[in-house]
Amino acid sequence: MPVPPRVLRPLGALDLDRAAALHGEAFTPLGERGWTRQDMAELLASPGVAGILLEIDGAAIGMAIFRVVADEAELVTIAVRRAERRCGVGRALLAAVFDAVRAAGARTLFLEVADDNPAARTLYGSLGFRNVGRRPAYFRRGDHLAVDAFVMRLDFD
Ligand SMILES: CC(C)(COP(=O)(O)OP(=O)(O)OC[C@H]1O[C@@H](n2cnc3c(N)ncnc32)[C@H](O)[C@@H]1OP(=O)(O)O)[C@@H](O)C(=O)NCCC(=O)NCCS
Repeated sequence: MPVPPRVLRPLGALDLDRAAALHGEAFTPLGERGWTRQDMAELLASPGVAGILLEIDGAAIGMAIFRVVADEAELVTIAVRRAERRCGVGRALLAAVFDAVRAAGARTLFLEVADDNPAARTLYGSLGFRNVGRRPAYFRRGDHLAVDAFVMRLDFD
């Protein structure tokens, strides 16, 4: 049986429910609130914001959302379906984000990642992001616990 190809394409209005489902599956186990379809719609309607969806055989496997303002970009979120992790999907999504933000004029990409998220921190570090700051108690974990965020930066030049 041939392996179905990965398809990377812009995240559109018809993908809002699937994008929200991917976000919820990825972030609620981390103690964060999953975004609703409405959250997704409002975010993607904001200036400079766009997203990328990765599908296999028509199924939504991962998504990334980014914002570009002048020559700076921000990775807003990235999520990969649990069953498909450690297969290079996150790396493929980030490669597509790099292409998209560079094409839009960005020379730098920033992101915030939680101190207690070694998977994401390792992924970003492997792609050349470096820590440039720390935001104390930035991420809420339920009602009480708060976790620091690292600000990471990648320069394309
Ligand atoms: C972070 C996330 C997007 C990674 O997606 P993924 O498809 O599993 O990532 P990849 O398979 O492309 O991994 C690429 C590299 O990242 C690192 N990595 C990924 N998951 C890791 C883990 N659980 N532990 C350690 N390193 C990990 C490894 O270096 C890996 O390369 P390798 O598999 O050759 O060792 C995914 O785990 C996820 O959706 N997590 C929940 C949401 C989240 O944390 N988003 C980021 C918020 S800042």
